[in-house]
Amino acid sequence: MTSNDNERSTTDDRCRIITTVADIRTITDSARAGGESVGFVPTMGYLHDGHASLIRAAREANDLVVASIFVNPLQFAPDEDLDAYPKDLDRDRYIATEAGVDVLFVPPVEEMYPHGAVLTSVSVAELSAKWDGETRPTHFTGVATVVSKLFNIIGSCSAYFGEKDFQQLAIIRRAVADLSMPVNVVGCPIVREPDGLAMSSRNIYLSPEDRVAAVVLSRALAAGADAVQAGTSDPTEVEAAMTEVFSAEPRARLDYAAVVDPESLDRPERLGTTTQLLVAAYLGSTRLIDNRTVKVF
Ligand code: PAF
Repeated sequence: MTSNDNERSTTDDRCRIITTVADIRTITDSARAGGESVGFVPTMGYLHDGHASLIRAAREANDLVVASIFVNPLQFAPDEDLDAYPKDLDRDRYIATEAGVDVLFVPPVEEMYPHGAVLTSVSVAELSAKWDGETRPTHFTGVATVVSKLFNIIGSCSAYFGEKDFQQLAIIRRAVADLSMPVNVVGCPIVREPDGLAMSSRNIYLSPEDRVAAVVLSRALAAGADAVQAGTSDPTEVEAAMTEVFSAEPRARLDYAAVVDPESLDRPERLGTTTQLLVAAYLGSTRLIDNRTVKVF
């Protein structure tokens, strides 16, 4: 039992909800002062099993586990419906508590951006412009800015992110390295539905028919992985194998099916021992992404 256990306990056994920067800082600062490690899971809420797996990973490795729920306006373009983003705090609190969170940080927008307009931003230049950045040009600067701000608020910690958002994870790793943030970034494996669809808060937007068709993303990745395992060293052949799977699914509109270097996110000339596959496609108006790492020894 540590000095912070009393502070963390609640009468109904659910995690505490904190809404101010000052209060969450007091909690994380005093945990570290007492020799405790802090695990942090940033989210935009509407939690699913993928988020729960991040919280469980943080729980296993840390004394204090904090998750944030903040639907960050900076990462939505004007034509993306920020207000329609799904919300259910009661359900989120239940899922987060079950997964082992101690504290949920749920700041209102005015707490995070007290001046309204945000004049300072974190932009991870080249990494943000390609792939998803081509369709969502302001998205990753919004993500890197809010994540940097959350790291400044939470302080030194291990922070847990899903590998499903592969480009986001690469950008956050790079921002942390470039700006020497005292954060250990931990990537956690993609959690999938039984048919292979990667879990995402966006899956609820899919019509029943599109939900069935959405398995095309993981199938395309499997075809790409098979092509790599078959011994090709030509990225074009792997991309063709993935694209062919999309061609057989009329409900899906392919955005990209690409082979990239896992750090630079550039397309390599030849395949090495680790190949990173990325796909993005629209099912109806819902844009889904997925990825797979293939190692050849
Ligand atoms: O992946 C997300 O849910 C968001 O992009 C993040 C990292 C919480 C930043 O708002």
